[in-house]
Amino acid sequence: MTEGAPKHVIIGITGGIAAYKAMTLIRLFKSAGCEVKVVATTNALEFVTPLTIETLSQNALYCDTFKRSEQFDVHHISHADWADCMIVAPASADIIGKMANGIADDALSTLLLAIKKPLFIAPAMNNKMYANEAVQRNLATLQQQGCHIIGPAEGFLACGTTGKGRMEEPEKIFDDVMGYFSKDLPLKGKRALVTAGPTYEPIDPVRFIGNHSSGKMGFALAEVLADKGADVTLVTGPTVQTTQQSHIHRVDVTTAAQMYEACLKYSADADIIIMSAAVADYTPAAPAPEKIKKNDSSLQLELVKTTDILASLGKNKRDGQYIVGFALETENELANAQTKLHNKNLDFIVLNSTKTPKSGFNYDTNQVTIIDRDGKITPFDLQDKHKVAQNIVDHLIAKF
Ligand code: PMT
Repeated sequence: MTEGAPKHVIIGITGGIAAYKAMTLIRLFKSAGCEVKVVATTNALEFVTPLTIETLSQNALYCDTFKRSEQFDVHHISHADWADCMIVAPASADIIGKMANGIADDALSTLLLAIKKPLFIAPAMNNKMYANEAVQRNLATLQQQGCHIIGPAEGFLACGTTGKGRMEEPEKIFDDVMGYFSKDLPLKGKRALVTAGPTYEPIDPVRFIGNHSSGKMGFALAEVLADKGADVTLVTGPTVQTTQQSHIHRVDVTTAAQMYEACLKYSADADIIIMSAAVADYTPAAPAPEKIKKNDSSLQLELVKTTDILASLGKNKRDGQYIVGFALETENELANAQTKLHNKNLDFIVLNSTKTPKSGFNYDTNQVTIIDRDGKITPFDLQDKHKVAQNIVDHLIAKF
């Protein structure tokens, strides 16, 4: 067994066609040398049999809270104490709702309320159910409580449609759980807040002021931080970027004001903050309630300043917190970036080059220079944004 790997694993299974994949998950953990106990709902047992579960896990299935065994034991408490971690796969909309709201009405939900160990869930349901506001709200609640959400993936669904809702493959769930327990991860136990993408400032219901940020840089940073063990909250403006990393909690916003609210909410707990979003500096003072009609004369818009999120977080920086900003300059690059570094109370700033071809907005590559508080300047070549993110995170880890 790998060092740091969980010895005792509980797999919770709920009613859904993906329950058959939980059998592979049991096998993967067993093959890795873990002892596995399974807790299933009665609906799960419509899809897989107790005999299969018990044969694969080599342990008695726990399903009925009131079944008396020969030895006196309160299973939901003894299982909670025994486990090093618990994984619910597949996790139906029903169990997600119960977990988020503290409902305990069967063996699985009762155990989930009692357990205080790392908890992973792999949602699986129809894409429309997954997109439902209540399900999303429940998932966000669970994530805020520290639960690790793995997937779901996009693809063919049992109901015959295609979309997001398919349970992640057992191998991916296994890797994510084992990765979490790996001792080598330098940011294990750290919380990070990352911003990505543009903000859209509404002019009227159909128009906005935006910019060319694609979110690629911010998503790459969030993924590298999560891969290094951090629990990441990624606050992103409108973007087509996606991530499957289970340690990233994604919060979608549209405007600078919404991004500010989200950052305020998550910054207090964050050990690391990296602001790579291209936040609008100005927003229309009074967005028109109806579409502005074209007329012969010109159109004047009054713009008001948005809150500088990074400066505000820098001002309220607490001991031990590490704050990194970005700078996008078209002239006096170094001097302007250095001023931002000090004015916004940052630990270091990442200056994008706007002069290098294929660097900055929307490209897959970026050319950056890191400027430290002590004046040290570290330039990098033009690189893939994932590699740029690795350099930034490595720089941070060296200082942290
Ligand atoms: O998204 P991509 O297409 O991958 O492009 C990546 C990027 C070029 C957008 C990214 O690398 C980048 O440079 N982001 C910061 C862009 C920017 O707004 O720079 P700035 O110099 O205007 O702002 C300085 C810092 O203050 C930034 O960290 C910014 O997030 C922050 N800021 C700015 C304004 C504001 N109201 N609030 C802020 O927090």
